[in-house]
Amino acid sequence: MEYRIETLDLAGGAAALQPWQLRGLAELEREHQLGLLGHDDFARDPAQIAAWSTNRSSVRRLIVLAREATAGPVPGAIVGAAMMDLPLLDNTHMAWASVTVRAAHRRRGLGTALWREVWAATREDGRTTVIADTAHLPAQAPAEHRVPPATGTGYLDDREGPTCFARTMGLALMQVERQSTQQLPIPADHLANLRTRATPAVGPDYDLVQWTGATPPDLVPDYLRLLTAMSTDAPMGDLDYHEEAWDAGRLLEAEQAAERAGRRSLTTAARHLPSGALVGYTQIQLDTYKPQMAHQENTVVLRDHRGHRLGLLLKLANVEQLQRLAPQVRRVHTWNAAENQHMLAVNTALGYRLSSLWGAWQYQQTRAETP
Ligand SMILES: CC(C)(COP(=O)(O)OP(=O)(O)OC[C@H]1O[C@@H](n2cnc3c(N)ncnc32)[C@H](O)[C@@H]1OP(=O)(O)O)[C@@H](O)C(=O)NCCC(=O)NCCS
Repeated sequence: MEYRIETLDLAGGAAALQPWQLRGLAELEREHQLGLLGHDDFARDPAQIAAWSTNRSSVRRLIVLAREATAGPVPGAIVGAAMMDLPLLDNTHMAWASVTVRAAHRRRGLGTALWREVWAATREDGRTTVIADTAHLPAQAPAEHRVPPATGTGYLDDREGPTCFARTMGLALMQVERQSTQQLPIPADHLANLRTRATPAVGPDYDLVQWTGATPPDLVPDYLRLLTAMSTDAPMGDLDYHEEAWDAGRLLEAEQAAERAGRRSLTTAARHLPSGALVGYTQIQLDTYKPQMAHQENTVVLRDHRGHRLGLLLKLANVEQLQRLAPQVRRVHTWNAAENQHMLAVNTALGYRLSSLWGAWQYQQTRAETP
């Protein structure tokens, strides 16, 4: 079978994905995730991929398509793809990439061809680092087959396809993330017990603020500080990724893009009463296209305010908000670095259980590759 590889630069409306391409990409994601994880909760609807492919001032998107050379413009012609995000306001030295090939077309060099395009586009843009991830079901591997990350805990199995592929492409495993799932509803007595545990430690200096959708204008300056803290305080191992630059324009754009992608956020923040400042927050995102599931997104408490069980209280209050406003949600998914013991302890208390493992891989330009 013959294949064609084409790179679409989605910048400035130079190219737009056609409906058949969007459907092909959605099928690719769904097939891969159903085959691996047994569910398609993380696979996007074509409309969500269309929303993703819109550029923003903070990010440039590129997509590399692998298609059957002789097939017409039908979704099944898309047999593989690489999707790339190139940050524009910070981290301009790196790119995020994902590479996927349909199961029936693997081991024919397509993954390699897609990866080469990713690397070429990264280099052409003057960037030196690519970060990509791989998903795995949790399983025990004998010691001789364990691939440890550069920092932190956990391991991947060197016999699994994605691990073999990433290593063959010269990527280094930097970190292992645990993806956990919480089943809802949480029994009322369990919620009450957790509240009893958290409240005395939180003390009288803090209260909670909740909102849905876009950040209320008067809270934006504080919220921007929390977003910046999130980009540096969540454990990232030695991944070559650094502080994000947030301002009100970028936040508005991100919130509008999330809305276009069918995401609606539920947020709970902690306010430090003596100063009046927000010092922590947590966010859950609902998905219009998958009403029975939700994503637990960022949680952060600023350094000076840690140790008061604010993390537990924030997440507890937010899941209560979720159960109240979106009672149809049956499960919530989250990701944490395997070494993030504090967050994992909070999640375990809330009923999250390990579902899959994700490897964070990095490719960096070597001296020999420098032009
Ligand atoms: C990983 C993936 C992209 C590989 O695609 P592919 O088209 O099969 O890749 P290639 O044919 O170019 O493989 C290149 C080399 O990687 C290694 N490799 C790839 N898949 C492998 C497997 N299942 N087992 C062992 N080695 C494998 C081999 O060395 C292979 O060369 P070979 O076939 O000559 O032995 C594909 O399996 C996939 O989509 N997996 C799910 C998504 C994913 O994990 N992406 C990884 C992002 S880094």
